[in-house]
Amino acid sequence: MKTTRTLFRTTLVAAAAAVLSTAAFAQAGAKLKVGLMLPYTGTFAALGNAIENGFKLYVTEQGGKIAGREVEFVKVDDESDPSKATDNVNKLVKRDNVDVLIGTVHSGVAMAMAKVAKESGTLLIVPNAGADAVTGPMCAPNIFRSSFSNWQPGYAMGEVMAKKGIKKVATITWKYAAGDESVKGFKEAFEKGGGTVVKELNLPFPNVEFQALLTDIAATKPDAVFTFFAGGGAVKFVKDYAAAGLKKTIPLYGSGFLTDGTLDAQGADAEGLFTALHYADSMEIAKDKTFRLAYAKTYKLQPDVYAVQGYDAAQILGIGLKAVNGDTSKKAEFAKAVEAAKIDSPRGTFSLSKAHNPVQDIYLRQVVGKENKLVGVASKALADPARGCKM
Ligand code: BEZ
Repeated sequence: MKTTRTLFRTTLVAAAAAVLSTAAFAQAGAKLKVGLMLPYTGTFAALGNAIENGFKLYVTEQGGKIAGREVEFVKVDDESDPSKATDNVNKLVKRDNVDVLIGTVHSGVAMAMAKVAKESGTLLIVPNAGADAVTGPMCAPNIFRSSFSNWQPGYAMGEVMAKKGIKKVATITWKYAAGDESVKGFKEAFEKGGGTVVKELNLPFPNVEFQALLTDIAATKPDAVFTFFAGGGAVKFVKDYAAAGLKKTIPLYGSGFLTDGTLDAQGADAEGLFTALHYADSMEIAKDKTFRLAYAKTYKLQPDVYAVQGYDAAQILGIGLKAVNGDTSKKAEFAKAVEAAKIDSPRGTFSLSKAHNPVQDIYLRQVVGKENKLVGVASKALADPARGCKM
């Protein structure tokens, strides 16, 4: 059995080693290489920029360093193109030797990133893409998400619409993981609540030729429509829906990406729309107030959900790295610290599930002027079911 003195000495040695390893990284000037793989062109370009802004705001608040290591960024424009995703992520991992991958927006691209991260053991923090598989069958100790699963906002909106007494709904979205899974989540809750999905319409990503589908909705005459679109596609959809005269006759609902970061471009056509998301404007949350002020001051822009997710991706990295004194090779200790953390987010405090997806409140919001005004909590502390995750 160890004596108290030996124990004390062992503890001292461990503490000294920890300090030394931080010092070693700092002294050697080993910068922390962060690979940002985001869309900087195409329909999700604004989303990628907002994520980068949010991430960098946190780094700036930390004096440009995380866990004592100066941060260096390496950027790749993934163009939201799944066919280029494996090559793009391999550039960051194999050519640039990044310490951590941050990305991305598009679910299909994120799944390719998760595959490479899982195989190579590189830390990956997903700051948007909701692909259920990332924290489902593809879950891994080195993969984390600061955003949501596609299932979450869809499911919450299904509950809200069923409770409103809406009976027959048509859905419309892009045919890829984010669209399919948002609708699936919606349908699960809506049908559980007594509603029926009478028509499921879709078009390939990032197509925005909505006319034929809008004609189909008009002919089907559902009680309401549920949709997932985001970025530039969401702007066009909301405008086309109103121009087709449908806004007045068939109420439009969506997961909140439909109206987040898009309201300047959508104008009056978005007014009054109800959506569900893990963030809203005008929330009475102290952290949100300071975040919004700092973001507006730094970028001369109002933040949106994507900026929040970028900021929180950096917070997650900060929490994990502080626990391992900047040593990214200590994956298990990194994960343990993040799993135990309460993340002080502008959206409200959240924690990560065992599968590393946020357990969070999903808010009901309504567009009033240029804001997604908070109406209430649609679903409290909603956890993704993480189907297929074995961890
Ligand atoms: C996705 O592909 O997962 C996604 C893209 C934009 C907004 C939300 C989700």
